[in-house]
Amino acid sequence: MPGAGRKPTALVGRDDALRAWGVALRRAERGTTDQPMILYGLRGVGKTVLITQLRHDAEDRDWWVAQVEAGTERPLREILGEGLYEPLSEISRPSAGKRVLRALKTALSFKASYDATGNWTFGVDLSDAAGGGADTGMLATDLRMILKDLSLAAREAGVGLAILIDEAQDLDTEELTTLAVIAQAAAQDNWPVLFALAGLPSLPQTLAEAKSYTERFQFIKVERLSESDARAAILRPAEGEGVSWSTEALEHVVSHSGRYPYFIQQFGQEAWNVAEGLRIGLTDAKLGVVQGQSQLDNGFFRSRWDRTTAAEKRYLRAMCPEGDAGVGSGEVASRMGKSLNQLGPIRARLIHKGLIYAPDHGIVAFTVPGMAGFIDRQIE
Ligand SMILES: Nc1ncnc2c1ncn2[C@@H]1O[C@H](COP(=O)(O)OP(=O)(O)OP(=O)(O)O)[C@@H](O)[C@H]1O
Ligand SMILES: [Mg+2]
Repeated sequence: MPGAGRKPTALVGRDDALRAWGVALRRAERGTTDQPMILYGLRGVGKTVLITQLRHDAEDRDWWVAQVEAGTERPLREILGEGLYEPLSEISRPSAGKRVLRALKTALSFKASYDATGNWTFGVDLSDAAGGGADTGMLATDLRMILKDLSLAAREAGVGLAILIDEAQDLDTEELTTLAVIAQAAAQDNWPVLFALAGLPSLPQTLAEAKSYTERFQFIKVERLSESDARAAILRPAEGEGVSWSTEALEHVVSHSGRYPYFIQQFGQEAWNVAEGLRIGLTDAKLGVVQGQSQLDNGFFRSRWDRTTAAEKRYLRAMCPEGDAGVGSGEVASRMGKSLNQLGPIRARLIHKGLIYAPDHGIVAFTVPGMAGFIDRQIE
């Protein structure tokens, strides 16, 4: 199942995060609200798939859920507003309780705060309902109001509200600060609202800079798979179809994938496609890896490479000798015969594009595993 956000047939190695989320859901139902869960990791490691599973787990318990993707172009106010529309319309009915009507009215005002044209209609008369006022224009005030009213309405229905934000590194500092403040208030007053944010490895640092009490957040590093999980990710889907892998074939795919989920899925799929019969052997695996590599080069890697300018490409090339490990930005500058200051804007743009991040002060590294190898394969 290679592809961004594509649900793998076997979702392996994420039991700890899923268990922690399950505990948080049950605790919230019983009146105790946990701190946000922060999932961070490299490109293609499985963050979207994991946060989507969190959504399903919440939905299975009838929670009200908004799952959104942050983007550098759109403010949090808007994407959350749109993400909340579906759960809102599901709860709107004339027989709805007071708290639900209040939440709907507050939601209408929230919508008005960023969109003067298209109004929501929920098909219920809200003229006598309390609520509203989430249109002051101050994000902290408005978001707090809608999330409070909505989560308290959810409690009336015996459930909770889950807010899931993917690509959270694209939120700006004010937005992250606001989320941290509201999550803090929610945990203090036990509104049944749980947050999960997923993003690049820079996310914990960005959050820490945004607001001090984020140290109580639950930080979960989404990593490449262990040896046994990597094998399971390949074997289990095949077993389900009555197909087996030879030991050598399995080892070949696992070792060439570096145990990165995206690569496992890509190589596994290609090996599957070339194999005949009900057993996948070493020859199939070898061919699968070669074909998978070219698929990755033409998609996973190329799509990112093509989004960079010539100057950015030169910067990325200068990072390559260290491979996936980070390199000092001073070293990159000296390799390019430039000063750190001259390269500052390029570095910033590459971070903004999500291609590199700063694992430590003065260090840059690729967010995409294997990117250095890909760049080395490209003719200058
Ligand atoms: N736990 C897992 N077990 C097996 N395969 C997985 C697992 N997690 C993700 N995958 C597979 O890896 C690929 C990438 O997953 P996903 O899109 O969730 O990564 P990501 O971390 O969100 O990447 P990006 O940073 O580019 O958004 C998908 O093909 C998915 O099926
Ligand atoms: Mg993703």
